[in-house]
Amino acid sequence: MQHKLQVRILKELIAQLDSGRNIDSGEQYKMPTDVYVDQNLAEREWQTLFRSHPQLIGMSADLPEKNSYFTVEEFGIPVLATRDEQGNFRAFLNACRHRGVSVTRENKGVAKRFVCPFHAWTYASNGSLIGVSEEQDFGPIDKRCNGLIELPAAERYGMLWVHPQPQASFDVDELFGEALAKELASHNLQDYVFAGDKEIDKRLNWKLANDTFGETYHFQKLHRDTLGQVFYGNNLAYEEFGRHHRFVTASKSIDEVRARPESEWKLSHGAILIYYLFPNIQLLFNTGRVSVVRIYPVHGDPAHSITRLATYCEPSYADLVMSTDAQGREDLRVMTDIYDPNKPAGSIATLEATMEAFYSTVELEDYAMGEKQQRAAESGVSQEVIFGRNEPPLHHYHRCFREALDMPPLKAVDAGESVVASA
Ligand code: FES
Ligand SMILES: [Fe+2]
Repeated sequence: MQHKLQVRILKELIAQLDSGRNIDSGEQYKMPTDVYVDQNLAEREWQTLFRSHPQLIGMSADLPEKNSYFTVEEFGIPVLATRDEQGNFRAFLNACRHRGVSVTRENKGVAKRFVCPFHAWTYASNGSLIGVSEEQDFGPIDKRCNGLIELPAAERYGMLWVHPQPQASFDVDELFGEALAKELASHNLQDYVFAGDKEIDKRLNWKLANDTFGETYHFQKLHRDTLGQVFYGNNLAYEEFGRHHRFVTASKSIDEVRARPESEWKLSHGAILIYYLFPNIQLLFNTGRVSVVRIYPVHGDPAHSITRLATYCEPSYADLVMSTDAQGREDLRVMTDIYDPNKPAGSIATLEATMEAFYSTVELEDYAMGEKQQRAAESGVSQEVIFGRNEPPLHHYHRCFREALDMPPLKAVDAGESVVASA
């Protein structure tokens, strides 16, 4: 990200902190809560946003070498992702051409060949069928046209994108638009290395899971003893890019940043940077690392979602975490936003502890709220929620979601209307 933009965002956050006022979108919105419980809508969103929309399935670091692979199936299509012998990212339906069995039972690994566990047909990492067992008994098979079914796939800006429909085509740059593509490119995510991951399986609609990343209003309330130790809350620099957006909020280390000359300011030293990528992705940038959050509905159950969290580090950050020299430790202390409540004062938490603290905050604090919201929506009695003027990412997220599904737009609360009286 350009230094000029980093400084502009930090100044905006500092101005909000100094004035004690959060961002103001100028509007409040009401939203019917049926979007969290409606079965028919859940089916439409599954077909439109997951089965027929490009999906981010991982990062370049998930395929670190030739012949590395991993599998995913959260959006209803079993996918085998590989890096072939030429180093190209490929994606296939993870289904043998004989009778449809998954050609690997592992979640990830390195393999030049995939031998189907059922009758041992064999495929190369580029998907071609290279062996049919007992072909003399089975009968002739044209190997040239019986490779694994390939899915449209693209590796851009360190991200791995797949379209679930074999006949579809897509362009990642078009998906992002020029400005966001340029910004994402500037983070050099292709150089990052995998650090760790976690799955969260909860009784809340996938949009409620997304909603937890859409405002800073709750930081000093819900997260008072965790994230609230590190972030001020109630401040937000925000920009939309089509259906995606950028969300930045100040960490308390912004006080150290503002004391230095502007030429030395770095966004990650004083804030967390989040990109929301439509429809279900959050990329959270801290110093030296990024957490990728992928949120999925469970097909057929609007009250159930799966979140996949994974963290990746810049190689230099991984080195710093391992560093024992005094300057390295000091740099890390200044740069980091670690809030592990169990670490002794003044010490530095490990990367593992930092990741776990983040993952458990999402699961035990944010999603715990989401589960309560889900139950209230299911009661049918709580028919609307209200998004405040200080929650514009939620306005945007739900506006785009509704637009993509041809739903009527959200209703702004009229000036002078009491949201309490009309509820
Ligand atoms: S289903 Fe794969 S070899 Fe038979
Ligand atoms: Fe939160």
